[in-house]
Amino acid sequence: MLECRGVTVRFGGLTAVKDMSLRVERGTIHSLIGPNGAGKTTLFNAITRLVDIQEGDIVLDGRSLAGERADAVIRRGVVRTFQNLQLSPFQTVRDNIMAGLTHLWKGGIFAAMAGAHRTFQKEAEDKARAAAELFGIQNRLGSLAGGLPYGILKKVELARALAAEPSILLLDEPAAGLNNDETAELDETLSLLKARGLTILLVEHDMSLVMRISDSVTVMDFGRLIAGGRPAEVAANPDVIKVYLGDDHGA
Ligand SMILES: Nc1ncnc2c1ncn2[C@@H]1O[C@H](COP(=O)(O)OP(=O)(O)OP(=O)(O)O)[C@@H](O)[C@H]1O
Ligand SMILES: [Mg+2]
Repeated sequence: MLECRGVTVRFGGLTAVKDMSLRVERGTIHSLIGPNGAGKTTLFNAITRLVDIQEGDIVLDGRSLAGERADAVIRRGVVRTFQNLQLSPFQTVRDNIMAGLTHLWKGGIFAAMAGAHRTFQKEAEDKARAAAELFGIQNRLGSLAGGLPYGILKKVELARALAAEPSILLLDEPAAGLNNDETAELDETLSLLKARGLTILLVEHDMSLVMRISDSVTVMDFGRLIAGGRPAEVAANPDVIKVYLGDDHGA
């Protein structure tokens, strides 16, 4: 359903992503892995139109995303979370989750004057609650985000993304900073979302999580495609092993 075709992203003289192609099939969990600085987040930024692409195309269900604005990409059902949490500490969990819903507001100023915004507000609150329930954080809806434990904030970000009713969810290191119990919960949640028909593109360094839940894995290094396939194939690929065990990264 989502395809990157020969995507190149440059920042001045630095090529962060070079001729990168991958294809995410509907209803699957597809992981994108690679060492630090491989270009994974940059590819997410390209897909969600936060950076421009210099070459190639990104296609969702047969239609290009390359010329779209970031908000249009969300309206087409492509929603992401961020490697570094992007929540407002001074807002409640409810308001943070509802911030993911603003693009669903179709009315303009006249609809708002006619009171449609109150219906929208009510629906948005219901959606925020449903998303919070999925992560077991409904009792935190009224709490300010600032000061909540990191594991809860990661759930708030996931809930905000899900409340937007994506067809494909892009997760940038959702397990980073989580303890073992929280990672096991995440594992269950992602499997549940897949069972509900959601497509997931996952950037993650936790290899045991990746190997357990992925249908396909794509490996990047220095902005380029190294390998792709089923988890077991990729794990046995000598080029991939070299990338992870090689001494040229220092990481
Ligand atoms: N906005 C930017 N301006 C300039 N260089 C950037 C920018 N964003 C990323 N880069 C560079 O592009 C390269 C790829 O970075 P990117 O963040 O995509 O890697 P990553 O695979 O997500 O790494 P990590 O696993 O550490 O998150 C790095 O060399 C990085 O410094
Ligand atoms: Mg990254």
